[in-house]
Amino acid sequence: MIRLSASDEDLAHAAELLERGELVALPTETVYGLAADATNPQAVRRIFAAKGRPADHPLIVHLPDIASLSDWAGDIPDDARRLAAAFWPGPLTLILKKKVSVDDIVTGGQGTVGLRVPGHPVALKLLQRFGKGIAAPSANRFGHISPTTADHVINEFEDADTVAAVIDGGPCEVGVESTIVDCTGPVTRILRPGMIGVERLAMVLGTRPEIATEQEGPRASGRLASHYAPNTRLELVDPESFNRPDPQAAVLALASTRDPGGFKAWKTLPGDPVAYARELYAALRELDECGAERILVQRPPATTLWAAVRDRLERASK
Ligand code: TXA
Ligand code: MG
Repeated sequence: MIRLSASDEDLAHAAELLERGELVALPTETVYGLAADATNPQAVRRIFAAKGRPADHPLIVHLPDIASLSDWAGDIPDDARRLAAAFWPGPLTLILKKKVSVDDIVTGGQGTVGLRVPGHPVALKLLQRFGKGIAAPSANRFGHISPTTADHVINEFEDADTVAAVIDGGPCEVGVESTIVDCTGPVTRILRPGMIGVERLAMVLGTRPEIATEQEGPRASGRLASHYAPNTRLELVDPESFNRPDPQAAVLALASTRDPGGFKAWKTLPGDPVAYARELYAALRELDECGAERILVQRPPATTLWAAVRDRLERASK
């Protein structure tokens, strides 16, 4: 895998690789994506092979602008138009009825397609240069932690010859995956919480969207009970459990929690959900490497601003 910069020359090279059907990892504001030409089924198939991802799990298609929506979506309800206008480019994916021209390999055989205009200048520049939709799941092995730096991507795929290049756009701003909103049913529903939370969606929609339960809604791998997981077992705990020393455990606590000593590693993250989310995956990767038998993560607050972080930690703990 070669490392490319965000220079015009390197982005031209990345666009050429995509045109040839190769896989290129690219930065977005949420996490790094593993990109292929969304109009080339053979290229898209390579994403599934590289990740070890089941073929019936649909991919998100990234677009350069809102105008491109109609190339992919067969029907664009008012709610979807409002959300796109309010939050794109940004960390929001809309599930819409697909156009017949959209290949089954992209949608996992479903009649709907996930679409988003990412809010990262490098991703946007590449999309504009490439001129077509780019299919990209998070650039990690299936079920593992999403990458938020180019080095994370290289660590995930270094033994593989399946990924041609990674574009280094620095660390991701948001740090957890986009909010996914399903606009295909009678009510608009959140399928995956993200940093655009229920309150902000409600302000734009004029009503509070529903939050889909585990059983409902189309398949979405990010909604599997176990996902986003480090290799080391992860447990969510209350801060009282830190009163008992555990030399085999690595701890991820909130910054306000005092280190009582007696742990293999002690790492803290900010008490603000936006800053916490930005650093979460890098922290989990770091603690995963420290040789602990378990990672104890302090349970974050039960408020809606923490919904995305709580969701990822709960899935990582199963
Ligand atoms: O922030 C993000 O969304 C990142 C960046 C790279 O854009 N991408 C990402 O992709 O997280 P991935 O594949 O790791 O997760 C996308 C989720 C999956 O859970 C997938 O099943 C769901 O989106 N999805 C895609 N198309 C869908 C559809 N038509 N219906 C329901 N869920 C869909
Ligand atoms: Mg993923």
